[in-house]
Amino acid sequence: MRCALVSSSFDLRGYLGAEFERIADRIEIVDHRGHGADADIRLAIAWHPPADAFDYYPNLQAVCSLGAGVDNIIACPSLRPDIEVVRIVDPAQAQMMSGFVLWHVIWHQRRFKAYLDQQRDGIWQRLSQRNAQNVPVAILGYGEIGQRVAADLAQLGFPVMAWSRTAKPMSPAIRGFHGPSGLAAMLRETEVLVNLLPLTQETQGILNGELFGRMRRGGYLVQVGRGEHLVDEDLLAALESGQLEGAALDVFAAEPLPPAHAFWRHPKIVVTPHDACEVRVEAVATTLVATADAIRTGRRPPHAIDRARGY
Ligand code: NAP
Ligand code: GLV
Repeated sequence: MRCALVSSSFDLRGYLGAEFERIADRIEIVDHRGHGADADIRLAIAWHPPADAFDYYPNLQAVCSLGAGVDNIIACPSLRPDIEVVRIVDPAQAQMMSGFVLWHVIWHQRRFKAYLDQQRDGIWQRLSQRNAQNVPVAILGYGEIGQRVAADLAQLGFPVMAWSRTAKPMSPAIRGFHGPSGLAAMLRETEVLVNLLPLTQETQGILNGELFGRMRRGGYLVQVGRGEHLVDEDLLAALESGQLEGAALDVFAAEPLPPAHAFWRHPKIVVTPHDACEVRVEAVATTLVATADAIRTGRRPPHAIDRARGY
C-alpha cells in the first residue's frame, strides 16, 4: 500500500526517519508533489495539509494525523467526507503531557514566579505556602489526555474537576461535569484551568472573558489545547484586571507566535513553542500500520474520529 506524506509546514520525512520506515516497512512512503493525480495512494499522513492536497488522491481512504488533534486536517477543503481521519492515541504522549501540565500547576501553587522575581532583586523572603488540597484544578476535556492529567493531579492531592461533552464514569478522586450548565458550576470552584479540548466549532473561542470571569479571582490558565480556543485580548484583559494571576500558553492561533505579539514579553505569561509533548515516531508508525491493515481487511481504522463531531 502507498502512503503520501502531506504537510505545508513540516518536514514529515525528516521527522519520521529510519525508525518509522523500519516499523512501516510494508508501506511505500511517497512525498506529496502538489501536481498530477496519483490513483494508487490510499493512505496519507498529514499535518497542516495544503488546501488542495487531497484532490490529487482520488482513491484516498484514510488520513493519519501526526498528533492527537485533527483540526488542521478536518479544516482542509479538499478532504472528502468519506475519508477516514485517524488520530494518535498514545499513553506515552498522555504521560508527557501530564508532566508538562503538572509542572505549570505546581509553578502556580508554589509561587515560583514570585521567587524568580525575588531572586532577580536579591530578596530573601519566605512566602506563605499553600497546600495542594486548597488549589482546585479543573480540566476542560476528559479524554485520553485529560484523564491521565486528572489522575496524576489527584494523586498529588489537588481537588480535581473535569468537564466533557457527555457524562462520564468518574473515579472517586475526580468530580465530573458535562454540558454548558456543568461548565458554569465547575468554573465557580476553579482556581487553575487546564484546557485539553479538541478544536471544534463548539469549542473555538471558549477561553474568553466571560469564562475567565466565572473562575475564582487570581486564577491561572494552562492552555495546551489549540490556539483558536483562546480569545487573546480577553486573556490580556483578565491578566490586567487581576482576574487571572498568570497563564502558561503552549499553543497559538498563529504558530510560530509572531515576534510582535504581546504574549512574548508579558510578565504574567509563560510561552512554550507548541512543545507540551512530542509525538513519538513509533506511535505514528504503529498507527499507520494498523490503519493500513484495517483498510486492507475492510474494517474501520482504530482511532478514526467521528467526522460529524469533529474529534
Ligand atoms: P480526546 O480523547 O478526543 O478527548 C477530548 C475530550 O474533550 C473528551 O472528553 C470530549 O468529551 C471533550 N469535548 C469535546 N468537545 C467538547 C465540548 N463541546 N464540550 C465539552 N467537552 C468536549 O482528545 P485527547 O487525545 O485527550 O486530546 C485533546 C486535545 O489536546 C487535542 O485535540 C489537541 O487539541 C490537544 N493536544 C495538544 C498537544 C500539545 O502539544 N499542546 C498535544 C496533544 C494534544 P466526550 O468525552 O464527552 O467526548
Ligand atoms: C499536538 O498538538 C497533538 O495534537 O498531538
